[in-house]
Amino acid sequence: MSTFHTPVLAKEVIDALGIRRGKRYIDATAGGGGHALGIVEQGGIVLGIDADADAVAEARRNLRRVRPEAEEGKDWIIVKGNFRNVVTIAKDTGWENVEGMLFDLGVSSFELDTKERGFSYRFPDAPIDLRFDRTSGETGESLLRRLSEDDLYEILATYGEEQSARRIAHGIVRARSVRPVKTADGLMAIVKDAGHHIAEIPGIAARVYQALRIAVNDEMGALREGLEGSRVLVKRGGRLVVLSFHSLEDRMVKQEMRTGPWHMVTKKPLTPNARELSQNRRARSAKLRVAEKL
Ligand SMILES: C[S@@+](CC[C@H](N)C(=O)[O-])C[C@H]1O[C@@H](n2cnc3c(N)ncnc32)[C@H](O)[C@@H]1O
Repeated sequence: MSTFHTPVLAKEVIDALGIRRGKRYIDATAGGGGHALGIVEQGGIVLGIDADADAVAEARRNLRRVRPEAEEGKDWIIVKGNFRNVVTIAKDTGWENVEGMLFDLGVSSFELDTKERGFSYRFPDAPIDLRFDRTSGETGESLLRRLSEDDLYEILATYGEEQSARRIAHGIVRARSVRPVKTADGLMAIVKDAGHHIAEIPGIAARVYQALRIAVNDEMGALREGLEGSRVLVKRGGRLVVLSFHSLEDRMVKQEMRTGPWHMVTKKPLTPNARELSQNRRARSAKLRVAEKL
């Protein structure tokens, strides 16, 4: 298994897609290519998409290494792009009708564990970047510099569900009046100064980073557009499979499957079992929902 990212609910995702030999599937979040590989191994043809150039390179490397017999361009294609543009990407690649589409939302382990990518509070001198696509858009540092206290509060409270959002937003505005908040340790000093018990700090730090990441990448907006794209691209009887890691994402997915042109296959979301959780802590908030196109 690649150390880049361990695919969550790997077997369940592939089963849910109901892979048929020679049929086409879109993996909208290729990451390290773990799920894409699973589709190819079952005889499916994959168009993998990722906004992150490092993920695109790794997914290609992984597929070439593990399935050298699979032909690039015929059995699989991995392209860089944002899944909010999935309809355009699919049309440009000649993939207008597919049997299934997968979204495995959020962040890869590689992104979290690579200091320079600035996705984690664990590296004190790391920049606060948080962009999936490092070639476009504003960084977390830029949001911390530019947004008003009320906007920062909204982000921390909504996307981080952080109880001390007000105190932290206030702390950011106060700190940046002295010097810009550029690195993880600068942001962590603000979290610590907001008067929390030491044991609470890692949880709060994770929620603050999650909130900023969702805002930086407009993850809710991208998901809305990506799901709209799935309506256009998935054939009748085809599957929409979504792995989410945040309650707001799960709510949006559930809403789409209830009100869109879908039959909800999973009445309740599937979650990782104790064995998977003991091997992969990062799977702990995963929820898998599956729908079939009407
Ligand atoms: C959890 S990982 C996917 C892991 C992958 N399923 C695997 O098995 O290795 C999520 C990936 O989605 C990508 N991503 C997040 N939002 C995206 C978006 N709007 N468009 C394209 N890729 C996105 C991230 O860069 C990351 O590589």
